[in-house]
Amino acid sequence: MFNYSTLESIGMEKLYKTFLEAFSDYQVKIDLPILKFQQMLQRRGYISKVSIGAFENNTLVGFLLNGIRYWDGKLTAYDTGTGVIKTYREHGITSNMIFNTKQLLGEMGVEQYLLEVIQSNISAVRLYKKQGFEILREFECFNLDKNKYTPTAAYETQHINSITKSNWKEFAKFWDFKPSWQNSIDSVNDASGTFVYSIIIIDNTIVGYGIIDKYTGDIPQIAVDKNYRGRGIGRSIFADLLKNTEAYNVKVLNVDNHCDSVKDFLFNLKFQQNVSQYEMVLKL
Ligand SMILES: CC(C)(COP(=O)(O)OP(=O)(O)OC[C@H]1O[C@@H](n2cnc3c(N)ncnc32)[C@H](O)[C@@H]1OP(=O)(O)O)[C@@H](O)C(=O)NCCC(=O)NCCS
Repeated sequence: MFNYSTLESIGMEKLYKTFLEAFSDYQVKIDLPILKFQQMLQRRGYISKVSIGAFENNTLVGFLLNGIRYWDGKLTAYDTGTGVIKTYREHGITSNMIFNTKQLLGEMGVEQYLLEVIQSNISAVRLYKKQGFEILREFECFNLDKNKYTPTAAYETQHINSITKSNWKEFAKFWDFKPSWQNSIDSVNDASGTFVYSIIIIDNTIVGYGIIDKYTGDIPQIAVDKNYRGRGIGRSIFADLLKNTEAYNVKVLNVDNHCDSVKDFLFNLKFQQNVSQYEMVLKL
């Protein structure tokens, strides 16, 4: 018999230990020290009281970690991570955790439930569809071994300490697609200290920017003003981002698969496409 309850009483170390155990056989190798795990949760907006754990005799054996924010103007929960320790799988634990989550979110007036799932994780995709989730977008993920790339820059870059509200307003005009939850403005703002922000200014105006995680090499956003593309600005920003992360492997996750500008740019920089994801939503 399993019990289900929210995670207010579960400390970060316990959660981390269970997370590592549950993801030990995941499609993508998880190499995450506890500090980065904590930063990942912070960035994605994790809230313990809207997250559900499955317990056997008070031992945490599964978890459904959620965050809540406004998304497209609707109060939205986001599944920041679902996992069940291998020996406890195929007992309906995930379905039960989703059932408990839906009830909890419904009581809180949350309008929709969003998640991302790796497309080749057939059983997870099937489960989410069965629960009523529908596919919104398809994302591609890319990575690059830093040692295999020699950065070249035609433009001088500058750094800013943070991105102001008025910066964001301008930057959003550069986008060809809206960044996924984990790469969104709110996610970047909630983990702002983990990033370096690189910009290029022409005639006193910012014409391109890029953001990189100093430790993990993750690039949540990079974009150039549509009027200034094809001049080497994106490449110059990227060259600067590379210099400002200690990671060997640089990642761009969740590129909208319809966005040829970013995909072609990344292929040109010798990135490899590795994983494809679905963005799925359930109306509550
Ligand atoms: C991707 C992007 C940043 C590239 O910026 P850019 O300044 O035009 O890129 P560069 O001029 O530095 O191009 C670098 C290389 O990539 C190639 N490239 C860039 N865009 C390309 C495109 N649309 N098609 C084919 N190749 C492209 C260039 O040909 C260039 O190669 P070269 O040096 O061998 O000539 C820009 O197209 C963009 O902002 N796209 C939208 C970003 C977005 O929506 N992000 C999501 C939200 S953050």
